[in-house]
Amino acid sequence: MYHILLGTATIALFTGCNQDAQPKNEIQNTVGISSKNWGEWDGKSVFLYTLTNKNGVVVTISNYGGTITSWVVPDKNGKPGSIVLGFDSLTGYLEHPPYFGALVGRYGNRIANGKFKIGDSVYHLATNNGKNHLHGGLKGFDKVVWSASPTTDSVPMLVLNYTSKDGEEGYPGNLIVSVKYTLTNDNELSIEYNAVTDKTTPVNLTNHSYFNLSSDPERTVLDQTLWIDADNYTPVDSTLIPTGKIASVKGTPFDFTVPVKIGKGIDSVKGGYDHNFVLNRKDSSLQRVAQLTDSFSGRKLELFTTEPGLQFYTGNFLDGKFKTADGKSIGKHAALCLETQHFPDSPNEPDFPSTFLMPGKTYHTITKYRFSVLK
Ligand code: BGC
Repeated sequence: MYHILLGTATIALFTGCNQDAQPKNEIQNTVGISSKNWGEWDGKSVFLYTLTNKNGVVVTISNYGGTITSWVVPDKNGKPGSIVLGFDSLTGYLEHPPYFGALVGRYGNRIANGKFKIGDSVYHLATNNGKNHLHGGLKGFDKVVWSASPTTDSVPMLVLNYTSKDGEEGYPGNLIVSVKYTLTNDNELSIEYNAVTDKTTPVNLTNHSYFNLSSDPERTVLDQTLWIDADNYTPVDSTLIPTGKIASVKGTPFDFTVPVKIGKGIDSVKGGYDHNFVLNRKDSSLQRVAQLTDSFSGRKLELFTTEPGLQFYTGNFLDGKFKTADGKSIGKHAALCLETQHFPDSPNEPDFPSTFLMPGKTYHTITKYRFSVLK
């Protein structure tokens, strides 16, 4: 085990709405990044990295799948709890939970019939979601061991690298991917994605964290409140492939342009929310696009991205099969995903923003999550 230190301190977890009060919890922690061995997979060592900031926010990330396994922040009373679903051992992840906290690629979300064309060439991808391709296929970026470089400048950073071979899961081109996680002292976790290729290929990288701000998966997310800066969304067919239309959210249960409780309209959405929202934007700058709040815990999460789309998924397929370390059941709507992305099935939809990366170009996107406590 090693530590890259930024300083060792007794960290008073910030109390947010109660700034003047004495801290309610104090934890002895190491500001910076540390690692421990977490087992082995595919003949490679797997590590768990712990990133800690000076406010006591602690994010753990494994180089297995680049997975965020926990993200501990205080609630309105200063009590720490993880706001994401995750396991405390590698074994949990090897049982293939549905992408808990993982880095998803080469193409996050669905590609219809696992097929697309570049020029006259037709490419066939692994199909792993009925007849469609989902989240990179049978062995996507969530199921591989990434090489990791923990560093620290003034804040803890973890850089993960993975080279996806030409032909992997059916994709053309060797793709060199680099993802940088940074935890700032403003309680922001940023994820910066970079990739280059030697053949034209579709790329759509995201993180698949399942959030529940209450930190209790037995309280569903239906009482939590969401705002999404999207006047439009992409309707889907029965296999969750976009029809190609861009539809207005106005007067529908997809209208989150003002903060709305997630449970308000969910019953009129067949199966629950699992849709791509077309973010309102004029350019591709880093922009605040969504906010999730929970009045029960007082926690607030803001989302910033350079991406044009956001998949809002309410954990509709969670069915209690997986349990937390303390035996709590992870059932339907136990958590939600906010996956920043390009639109699903873009390789087959010429009117959607392109996801094709060409040789000589660099794929570069940033998504940032800012945590705070409601005032
Ligand atoms: C998809 C869901 C899928 C989930 C887990 C989400 O990104 O939109 O349909 O069930 O990932 O695989």
